[in-house]
Amino acid sequence: MADATLEIRPGEVTVDAPPAEGPALTFIGHCQTPWKTTRECPRRGDLEGPLCQVVVDDVWARALQGIEENGYLQILYWMHRARRDLVLQNPKHKGAIIGTFAIRSPNRPNPIASSVVKLEKVEGNVLHVRGLDCLDGTPVVDIKPDKCPHA
Ligand SMILES: C[S@@+](CC[C@H](N)C(=O)[O-])C[C@H]1O[C@@H](n2cnc3c(N)ncnc32)[C@H](O)[C@@H]1O
Repeated sequence: MADATLEIRPGEVTVDAPPAEGPALTFIGHCQTPWKTTRECPRRGDLEGPLCQVVVDDVWARALQGIEENGYLQILYWMHRARRDLVLQNPKHKGAIIGTFAIRSPNRPNPIASSVVKLEKVEGNVLHVRGLDCLDGTPVVDIKPDKCPHA
């Protein structure tokens, strides 16, 4: 089945995006979630949603020291299946055309996403969290402590 994020919808506009350049990112791990297609994914993570895992690569495991002290984390991840050439988008096919930087679509020149998640448990290099909204296997860019978004 075609990936929904790659479709061009009515009214959407792409550009000839310049080639990616600059400092390289190092992915530090990946997300394990129940969602295999973008259609199944929630639009926004839910702090009461299903338990997901952030699996940190062994080389970075020591960087997790002390992380269990935090009830909430901000996870930055790389929407690896996103388009990177859209300037105008048609969210949910509703026909209201809007600029990429005015919405939180995964489709953007640098497809970095972020979610505040609830940290339920730490097991070695695996963080068990609630609140992700990404595909299974989505690469992780960074992890930072955060506050409860409802506080
Ligand atoms: C609207 S974005 C929000 C992401 C993040 N919470 C944010 O606000 O930056 C979430 C949607 O991105 C899409 N998505 C999830 N993982 C993706 C991936 N690895 N590549 C491309 N699209 C993805 C799914 O359609 C999901 O519903």
